Amino acid sequence: MAVRAIVLAAGKGTRMRSDVPKVLHLVAGRPIISWVIDAVTRAGAGEITVVVGHGAEAVVAVLPDGVRSVVQEQQLGTGHAAQVAFGTMGDTAEDTVLVVPGDSPLVTAESLRALLEAHGPGSPCTMVTTRMPDPTGYGRVLRKDGAVVAIVEERDTDAATVRIDEVAVSTYVFGGRLLGESLARLDSGNHQNEYYLTDVVGMLAAVGPVETVEVDHEETLGVNSHDQLANVDAVMRRRINAEWMRQGVWMQDPDRVYIDESVTLQPGARIYPGVHLEGATSIGADSQIGPDAFLLDTTVGRGARVWYSVLRGAEVGDDVDVGPYATLRPGTILHAGSKAGSFVEIKESEIGAGSKVPHLSYIGDATIGENSNIGAGTVTCNFDGFRKHRTVIGSRVFVGSDTMLVAPVELGDDSITGAGSVITKDVAPGALAVERSAQKEIAGYSERRARTAEAEGE
Ligand code: UD1
Ligand code: CA
Repeated sequence: MAVRAIVLAAGKGTRMRSDVPKVLHLVAGRPIISWVIDAVTRAGAGEITVVVGHGAEAVVAVLPDGVRSVVQEQQLGTGHAAQVAFGTMGDTAEDTVLVVPGDSPLVTAESLRALLEAHGPGSPCTMVTTRMPDPTGYGRVLRKDGAVVAIVEERDTDAATVRIDEVAVSTYVFGGRLLGESLARLDSGNHQNEYYLTDVVGMLAAVGPVETVEVDHEETLGVNSHDQLANVDAVMRRRINAEWMRQGVWMQDPDRVYIDESVTLQPGARIYPGVHLEGATSIGADSQIGPDAFLLDTTVGRGARVWYSVLRGAEVGDDVDVGPYATLRPGTILHAGSKAGSFVEIKESEIGAGSKVPHLSYIGDATIGENSNIGAGTVTCNFDGFRKHRTVIGSRVFVGSDTMLVAPVELGDDSITGAGSVITKDVAPGALAVERSAQKEIAGYSERRARTAEAEGE
């Protein structure tokens, strides 16, 4: 007896007012459907069939290998979606069929496992229910003498059923044989002229008891609008942050920390408010991130400090200092103990251990050795209007403030450049290069000027 799952994900999500298929909107950096597939997989489903419709190709593209998909050309209702999937699944008579909605990413594998465990071998149907503070829009669970008899859709409720706060959330387990028989009997004689999967529950309640597993309503929240998306995203981020805090990460104000599911942190990391960690980002122990930082696909070592800065595709070593107001673009490697200070932009460059770029510099396509100091306002002029060229700076180099390094150019180890120099030629190791016109001085100029002005004014 295998567990085979159907994920309902063909709906358009009209209220999102978006060209992006509803289930591809991101929650904590990951498509809604991926969260659902993950929970279903971890709950033990051996086979998963996703019903796709709107934006089918894009949805299928994010499905993991081995997950089946079937296109529901016309969205004729949840019952029809289940029929379309069921029709492609071959013999399911002896199997257990788990059905979940593709737009509710907060469901946990634990709850789905509890649902599967609650489903007895001979049982026709077991379903998840919840108590909604405001049940509007949900199918109400109608009971008689405690036993489930039907699910009544919002538009089919009457004065009595509309007040029921126990609702169905499109999450069920069925016996395969009975599901097939019931799906074949569905009709669309309701207010929406749709095939309702909920009607299957009514049919099966006549066959045997329909059991229910109640879960916290937060887990069942679906995404039908941007308002709900923001709400679901906040719940997911709270879960992610709570888990990192359990693992020893310090957060000053977790409500203002945004960590994608794909990110890893080491115990002892310190995260201040306004921090966004996205993509393949990892943060080492005792590193302090924020206030206010955006890190995408960036690795940060131990004991580093990054604040008020934007880092994309960068490697930040141990004990490195970044910011405030630094921009690190892809290909930036900061070795241990180095620094990218305020108003510094770096791209495609390697900064050696202990080297400092403390203020107001642009470093692009450069390699800097160890323990060099790059003066304020230094620019690697890496682009001649046609091509990019590299700048190579050795170790223990002192680059004077406001040096223009016109690439391709190389500064040897222990060399020095004078402030304000435009360096167009390589500098030998240990040499001083100054490129500057000699300073002129005109004695008594100020007084002479005043006298001239006086004479002209009269
Ligand atoms: C459905 C349930 C309702 C439940 C609510 C929340 C029915 C008739 N009603 O209502 O009892 O309280 O979900 O879980 O089942 N879908 C398809 N193809 C379709 C129609 C829907 O794949 O033709 C998918 C949607 O993409 C979505 C899910 O099924 O993921 C639920 O569809 P939705 O339109 O949101 O159902 P509701 O009317 O909200
Ligand atoms: Ca819905």
